[in-house]
Amino acid sequence: MPSYDPKDTRPMIKTRWPELDRDKTAQKQGAAVPEMQKPCRGNVVPLPEADQAVAKPIALKDAIAARSSHRSFTDEPLQIAELSYLLWATQGVRKQTEKASFRTVPSGGARHPFETYLFVSRVEGLEPGLYRYLPFEHALCVERLTSDFEQQLDEALLKHHFGGAVDFVWAAVPYRCEWRYAFESLRLILMDAGHVCAHLYLACEDLGCGTCAVGAYDQEKLDALIGLDGENEFAVYAAPVGKISREN
Ligand SMILES: Cc1cc2nc3c(=O)[nH]c(=O)nc-3n(C[C@H](O)[C@H](O)[C@H](O)COP(=O)(O)O)c2cc1C
Repeated sequence: MPSYDPKDTRPMIKTRWPELDRDKTAQKQGAAVPEMQKPCRGNVVPLPEADQAVAKPIALKDAIAARSSHRSFTDEPLQIAELSYLLWATQGVRKQTEKASFRTVPSGGARHPFETYLFVSRVEGLEPGLYRYLPFEHALCVERLTSDFEQQLDEALLKHHFGGAVDFVWAAVPYRCEWRYAFESLRLILMDAGHVCAHLYLACEDLGCGTCAVGAYDQEKLDALIGLDGENEFAVYAAPVGKISREN
């Protein structure tokens, strides 16, 4: 492996991307529209309407002004209506067509390449475990019920679980983007992820919750803990969420 030369200050990230032949994308060649949501093989838990959560909504400008990262949380559980609100704010579906969905967050070409996984530690009305959001049903898919994940999760997140009541992990399904954008997809996926987490930060402000964007994780461990193959689907971003105390 080459070593770093401290005198070489040229940028390490290349800004050149492979030229995309727009006539050769899967979409242009007639491939079927990729599925917009993975099927659920476990039980489905319906979520309450998202608008039941916020008792005293704060002004958007106050939410923007107050937003900051939180790395310590109280033991208080989240209400399921609060989780419902956070999921709606980050991936909720506004409109659907045959080829695309339109959500509360923007996405390049409306491809919406993410599945949202939730490691639930303390949410009233939910057993601890791994769940996945089903945006089209506004429901949860039970992936695995277990309370025995916290240590492994903290290791996979390189000590960034921070004792959250629920940890969001967004995983990309790259083909949803590649179908239309081929090589351009990686950068679009990463831009999309930023929008999703930005909504989570602001929605948390509405609920007296806190969150912290987490880009530091062990790719193999996190993928394995969720059960992702790391190629057709892989984790790209994470965020623990919990109630915050006043002094936070
Ligand atoms: C893409 C991205 C990745 C981040 N990854 C981490 C992380 O792995 N660990 C962490 O503690 N904070 C992480 N953060 C949070 C930043 O450290 C934080 O936003 C920054 O220090 C500014 O603080 P503020 O959010 O309170 O304004 C990340 C933020 C972004 C946008």
